[in-house]
This record gives sequence, C-alpha cells and structure tokens, in this order.
Amino acid sequence: MLSVIILAAGQGTRMYSHAPKILHQVVGKPIIHHVLDAALALDPQEVVTVISPHVCKSSVVEERAVKVAIQEHPRGTGDAVKAGLSQLSDSQGDVLIVCGDTPLIQVDELVHLLAEHRLHPENSISVLGMRLSDPRQYGRIVADGKNLNCIVEYKDATDTERQINLCNTGIIITSIATLKNLLPKLTCDNSAQEYYLTDIIELANKQSINRYVVESKNPDLFHGVNNRVELAIAERQYQAILRDKIMRSGVTLLDPDTIYFNHDTIIGKDTTIYPNVFFGEEVVVGEGATIYPSCYLVKTRLGNQTKIGPFAHLREYTILEDNAEVGNFVEVKKSTLGKAAKAKHLAYLGDAMIGAKANIGAGVITCNYDGIGKHQTIIGERAFIGSNSSLIAPVSIGEDAVVGAGSAITKDVPSQALGIARSRQEIRLNWTKSFHQNYKKN
Ligand code: UD1
Ligand code: MG
Repeated sequence: MLSVIILAAGQGTRMYSHAPKILHQVVGKPIIHHVLDAALALDPQEVVTVISPHVCKSSVVEERAVKVAIQEHPRGTGDAVKAGLSQLSDSQGDVLIVCGDTPLIQVDELVHLLAEHRLHPENSISVLGMRLSDPRQYGRIVADGKNLNCIVEYKDATDTERQINLCNTGIIITSIATLKNLLPKLTCDNSAQEYYLTDIIELANKQSINRYVVESKNPDLFHGVNNRVELAIAERQYQAILRDKIMRSGVTLLDPDTIYFNHDTIIGKDTTIYPNVFFGEEVVVGEGATIYPSCYLVKTRLGNQTKIGPFAHLREYTILEDNAEVGNFVEVKKSTLGKAAKAKHLAYLGDAMIGAKANIGAGVITCNYDGIGKHQTIIGERAFIGSNSSLIAPVSIGEDAVVGAGSAITKDVPSQALGIARSRQEIRLNWTKSFHQNYKKN
C-alpha cells in the first residue's frame, strides 16, 4: 500500500511574492499541479497535500482527488510531514514524501525510486539523490556508497560538506511506522530553527535502521523553485523538454529556443513554426500548418494547412478551419474563420462567424463593442469585404455578397448583393492651379 504526502506549506519567502510559491506557474501550470499530477499518476491509495492556512485549498487541488492537511505554522519539512500523516486514513504501509516546489518532476522517476526501494526490503528509508554539477543550496547527502549516513542542509554544512555534489531531491520513501517512530524525535536545533525532515536519516542511523540512497539518472528533473531565478531556470528546462517532444512528434521548429509552449499545447505533424511564437493555454494546431514569426496564440484551434502570421494575435475562442489564413497584424477573438477563409492584413475580427472562402480585406474591423455589450458579425461563404470597412455589429453579410472598400456597414447585406456605405467621390478638373493662386493671394 502506498500513500503520498506532498509538502506545500512553506512560506516561499525567497520568492518575494504576494502569491504562494506553489501557485507560481511553469509552462502555464501552477508548480503544485505538476507535482500533484505526477503523484496521482502513481495511482496511490491516497494523496495528502500539506498547505498553509493562508492558501486557498481549491486553487491548490482544483478538481483532483487529493486530501489537504493544514500546517498551522511553517516550522519545517519535518513538522509538515507530521501534519500530512495526521490526515492519512491508513496507519500502515509505505509513504512517499515529495516537495511541492519541484515542477519538473516526472512519474517515471518516482516509479524508479519505488522499484528500488521494494527491491531492497531490508531498507526502511530510501532517498532519491541527484548528482549536480552546480549543487546550489540543496541538502548534501553524506553516504558510504549506497548507505546514507545523514543529510546536511546547506545552511548547516561545513565547507567540506558543501563540496559534496550528491544532493537531496526532497523525495523520500519510508513506512508510516518508521515516520511515527522518528518524527517525534526531531529537534529544531539548527541554523533555520526548523524541524528538518532530513534529520530523520541521522536518527535512523542511531537506531541502526537501514537507509539507502537511489541516484537519479535524470538529476535535472528535481530542481526546486525557491526564488525567481530558479523559477526562470525551471521554465527554461521545461520548455526544452516540450520543444524536444514536439519536434520528435514531427513538427519543424525553425529556432526552437525562441518558441514558447504551454504544457497543454498540441501540434499536428508537418506543421512548421517560425521564430518568436508564444503559445498560451489550450492551443491545438492541426497538421501541415504554418505559423510565421512573432505570433501569439491562446485558446485557439487551427485546422490542417492553416497559415498564420507573421505578427498574428489569436485570442480566446478563435477557430480557423482547414486552409484558413490569417496574416500580419490581424487580431482575432471569439471568431471562427471557415475553410479557406482569409484575413491577410491589419484586421480586428471579434465575435464573428466567417464562412468558408470569405475574403476579409486589409484594415477591416468588426465593431463588436458598443461600450456596453458585445455583438455578433456574421459573414457568409465567399463574401468579399473590401479594405478598410467597418462592420458595425450586430450585422450580417450574406453569401457571395460584396462590401465596397471603405464602407461603414450598419445594415445587413443580403446574399449576392453589394453593400456600400461611403461618400461619393467628386472630381474637380483643373482645381490645383487655382487653389495655389488663391493660396498665394491670401
Ligand atoms: C528542501 C530539503 C533539502 C532538499 C531540497 C530539495 C529540508 C530541510 N530540506 O530544502 O534537503 O535538497 O528541499 O528541493 O527538507 N514546506 C512545508 N512546511 C514547512 C517548510 C517547507 O510544507 O514548514 C514545504 C515547502 O512548501 C516546499 C518543501 O516543503 O514545497 C521544501 O521546503 P523548502 O523551504 O523549499 O526547502 P528547501 O530549502 O528547498
Ligand atoms: Mg525548495
């Protein structure tokens, strides 16, 4: 039987933020959700997340089937585990302890630790270690081979101990019984004056309880986020993982390091993405699409063979059906462009339904907002909207209809009709010469 305790009640003081550290985002997902999802993927009996009383429970767990324990005061990771234990329904079995500030965590690594732990039933405590070229301020693992002697926190470590590059990931597996034996013996006699969970190793050593270190093959996946610099490092590392995965699934990225994905971005194969593109949440791109440079997309669905950009801004609830095209300096919101519809230059399309093969000229605006409410524009299939037209919603343009360039359209244009709404052009022959003469006289 396995339970998981996730520690997420720290103050996160090093973030200097009004928001709890664990709710800061990496690849568009709160740090704690990365950890919760990895824990749930193990299919454990129970997951308990330890949070501080100041944090909103529902923003931490959302819809996930996990319990919450409250740690009244942030008195250290040992004290947080105590709070977690008190909420476990079972009083026996194994418990996996994970820090809630490690967004890169992957379930495979947790499975690896579990397998190693169960392969050596004589070991009561197994700690996942990471060997790092830059061990930063992680707890240092003092071990003889695989046998752990103790974990020394950076703040309390001697210069020699700081030279050790095998560090504590913060992931530990042991039994509930072992924790119940050792946790009450923790003291806060250290430089942070906290109850360190890591001190259970030395206590176990004294009681000749076997302790084991399992070295991770992917040490870069356990970086904790304690400040904004580490947040940026975690983002960079996670982006690299997403780019790699997306390219290996058949997508061409011209300059991968300049393209930012969200954790839930889905891109079909044979799509090509040019540099400087940012994907916000809930973007799905079909196959064979082309995304030219400097586009921003959020909550958008692009069909197969669509083309967008350069410099396209596709906002929430935009749908481009197959072969549709949106060009430079076009902003689209809550709008659908039907198959092969085109809006190639300088337009704003908001709250619009645009039929297949419709052509939206340069500078067209759907005036969807009257200062109070939002209104819809409907454009039929194959309709042609001349450049620099304003479609003042609610309004509809019928199939195959044409709107003359420069029109301000306030009334529906029937199918097959021409709608034109602009002042008539006047021609005054030989006007320039007299204008100049009059100008000089004055
Ligand atoms: C901790 C470990 C360190 C390890 C590192 C890995 C301890 C004492 N140190 O250090 O050995 O290398 O993680 O990232 O365990 N938390 C609580 N309540 C508290 C304090 C912390 O729930 O009172 C939570 C935090 O929210 C965080 C996790 O425990 O998610 C770790 O705490 P943090 O303060 O980040 O510890 P580190 O200094 O990173
Ligand atoms: Mg940490």
